[in-house]
Amino acid sequence: MKIVKVSDYQEMSEWAGKQVIEKVKSVRQPILGLATGSTPEGLYRYLIEANKNHDVSFENVTTFNLDEYIGLDRDDPNSYHYFMKEKLFDQIDIDPNRTHLPNGVAADIEQECLDYEALIKKTGVIDLQILGLGVNGHIAFNEPGTSFTSRTQRTDLVEETIEANARFFENKADVPTQAITMGIETIMESKEIILLASGENKAEAVKRLVEGEVTEDFPASILQKHPHVTIVIDEAAASLL
Ligand code: GLP
Repeated sequence: MKIVKVSDYQEMSEWAGKQVIEKVKSVRQPILGLATGSTPEGLYRYLIEANKNHDVSFENVTTFNLDEYIGLDRDDPNSYHYFMKEKLFDQIDIDPNRTHLPNGVAADIEQECLDYEALIKKTGVIDLQILGLGVNGHIAFNEPGTSFTSRTQRTDLVEETIEANARFFENKADVPTQAITMGIETIMESKEIILLASGENKAEAVKRLVEGEVTEDFPASILQKHPHVTIVIDEAAASLL
């Protein structure tokens, strides 16, 4: 596990942006795994700028997002479909048909999970997976207690996650209680992973991720076992190391 300490959010975003661009340029048909949440927004802004300046093209890039809320339609402003369109896809030269997120309003959610997993397999192996970190150690929406051998599945969000994500919604009661999430094993199959964490509220989780035992009680701890993972943290997130 490689740890990169940077000074602040901006530097974290730039560092990750450069890695993504390098990957996109060095692989012929790159497959990126993408995340939502506040953490990768700066990275996405960096990619948009680079694309505008013709430093990189996303024409040959395929993306798979980690997760989606169950019950939110792609046009719902709180859905991850909407987030990705607004924060990245609509502002770069990517082919929308090559961008993938689980469908949170599928009639058969279990089938949707199987189909999403199958689509990733059929497309190839994710070259670079971007991850954020939940305060409780979740990655994607894999909450504490999730099996390390899990594949894409339906999951119940725990109270802490609902609280943390309520800031995006008008009322806490509007936050969906379930999501479709890539499994931990699915994530671990990526060739390379970059996890981003910024701010003091992530310091405890970062400490446990880097120094704690590998346990299903703290899903991100599995990353210690990945052969090619980089944790990019700013000073505040690194403050307890
Ligand atoms: C959300 C997402 C995760 C994300 C995490 C942290 O629940 N499902 O993929 O990494 O919470 O979010 P943030 O970056 O906003 O702190």
